[in-house]
Amino acid sequence: KPQVKQTTKAAAIECIFIRDYEIETWYTTPYPEEYNRNKLLYICEFCLKYMSSRYVFHRHQLKCRLFRPPGNEIYRDGKLSVWEIDGRENVIYCQNLCLLAKLFLNSKTLYYDVEPFIFYVLTEREDLPQQSPRFHLVGYFSKEKLNSTDYNLSCILTIPIYQRKGYGQFLMDFSYLLSRREFKWGTPEKPLSDMGLLSYRNYWGVKCAQVLMELKDLSKCDEEEYLQITLEDISNLTGMIPTDVVFGLEQLRVLQQSSNNELPRYVIKIDSWEMIEKEANSWKSRGYQTLNPQKLVWKPMI
Ligand code: ACO
Ligand code: ZN
Repeated sequence: KPQVKQTTKAAAIECIFIRDYEIETWYTTPYPEEYNRNKLLYICEFCLKYMSSRYVFHRHQLKCRLFRPPGNEIYRDGKLSVWEIDGRENVIYCQNLCLLAKLFLNSKTLYYDVEPFIFYVLTEREDLPQQSPRFHLVGYFSKEKLNSTDYNLSCILTIPIYQRKGYGQFLMDFSYLLSRREFKWGTPEKPLSDMGLLSYRNYWGVKCAQVLMELKDLSKCDEEEYLQITLEDISNLTGMIPTDVVFGLEQLRVLQQSSNNELPRYVIKIDSWEMIEKEANSWKSRGYQTLNPQKLVWKPMI
């Protein structure tokens, strides 16, 4: 959680009530004036409608039979699902999602102009006896439809009650999986928030470690031999642009400037395969749910 809370506005929402949780907010959001006056704002976790009073909220909970995000379920593995939602088709839902995200984001983001974006929403399924399952909102990322840039992710959020459990890594992995299916290299939109940067650095490092382990297993190379690999090769395997691959390799401290003129300018030098292996397995060893690319049912829009 960031240390400083932005308190430029006198009246600001201090907490939101969503699902059964009261969550402290970090920043301000331009909800309509009459809602922004509340210290506590009630939000329906399914349609994301915001409400001023507990009474209205309870009435709404009885009526709202959505139980899941709108859009298409394009991924399901165990309890986790990802839903693809077009900002043009579900304007209100996507606007509400952006307003909610802004409570935890310092930077200026979009709230109302959602049409140029697609939203990928991650949910966790709760099965209930004799009732429809509930798909609880865990986090999301947005992506610009117009893909003239390298950006494969515009804004990412894990709802604070779900943070530090690996869902951010899951969503990042998902964004790169979509890039690979588009036969492209991608990168998140800049600037990153402090938490965004910490998470991405960790992600890039783990991903590079996983690729290095795969290559090691494939080549069965002698520890003394050189392995021929370019940054572009790693980009093709991961969907990450080469600069992000460099960040990942630096994170692992394996990138070295070569002093030998016959070698390329930069070489990957691995002192400890043990460390690489540990990094590569870090999501599994921390019990994070990892992405299973075979479960994605999706084709690029264009
Ligand atoms: N402090 C230190 N390291 C962190 C932190 C943190 N606050 N958050 C993530 N990390 C690193 C850690 O290495 C962590 O592993 P660990 O928990 O085992 O130590 C690793 O990233 C994985 O974290 P996840 O659990 O996968 O990440 P999470 O689900 O918490 O989501 C996210 C990360 C989305 C950035 C979340 O912090 C968030 O929603 N923040 C508020 C919104 C935000 O800042 N979004 C990014 C804006 S930039 C952009 O959108 C392009
Ligand atoms: Zn609702």
